[in-house]
Amino acid sequence: MNKPIGIFDSGVGGTSIWREIQRLLPNESTIYLADSANAPYGSKGKKAIIDLSIKNTELLLSKDCKIIVVACNTATTNAINYLRQTYAVPFIGIEPAIKPAALQTKTNAVGVLATKGTLSSALFSKTSTLFANNVQVIEQVGDGIVELIERGKLYSKAMESLLKVYLNPMIEANIDHLVLGCTHYPYLIPLLTDMLPNHVKIIDSGEAVARQTKAVMIKNNLQALDQIIPQNKFYTNKNTEVMASLLGSELVVEYLNF
Ligand code: DGL
Repeated sequence: MNKPIGIFDSGVGGTSIWREIQRLLPNESTIYLADSANAPYGSKGKKAIIDLSIKNTELLLSKDCKIIVVACNTATTNAINYLRQTYAVPFIGIEPAIKPAALQTKTNAVGVLATKGTLSSALFSKTSTLFANNVQVIEQVGDGIVELIERGKLYSKAMESLLKVYLNPMIEANIDHLVLGCTHYPYLIPLLTDMLPNHVKIIDSGEAVARQTKAVMIKNNLQALDQIIPQNKFYTNKNTEVMASLLGSELVVEYLNF
């Protein structure tokens, strides 16, 4: 089926997921929505996050998307159940990958860096209880990180200071895994790698989301035909330059009021 895959996030972070999807499914067309005008979602309540997720979903459906990837942990953990019950297309979500971290830890301590909206969600607390009950989980709200990335301040003194404050208690607790629970955070990996002890493994679920997207498309017979030339469209309702610089190529980012 030659319709596009729809992807949305509260902002530019979900491009980290788009990249994995593009790598695994290069024949597919995609439409990406960055709702940066409403970022961050992480400090909003559940109702507001559901309303914004509805707005993004309906725009993607109006552009004929065949499947929707909620490339945002905060929107997934707060709104995906509602979206699945309301719309007929399949939805793929992303949540902090606490299960592999809890299974693999040798120090019995793992860190989770995520938004307030994700860490306080019922879905996160269910997953955490189910898979990490016997492990010390150091949860940290990443206040301010999304805002800095959205303003193009990924590599800045302000970011380094925030990360230092957030990582120190985790380092003191001797974590050996750090779970990235927000799709903006993979852009921090070079900084995190510098700041964390060598034995700490950073876990990011982007690739798993792409694999799940592929599996669901195969199951529902939604794959594009080989002879089609795929198109990738990127829309933001805020700053096109910040997004273009993160995508880092000749990809075109368009402004759209939504
Ligand atoms: N990328 C979003 C996530 O994965 C950021 C949430 C926010 O806007 O606070 O949670």
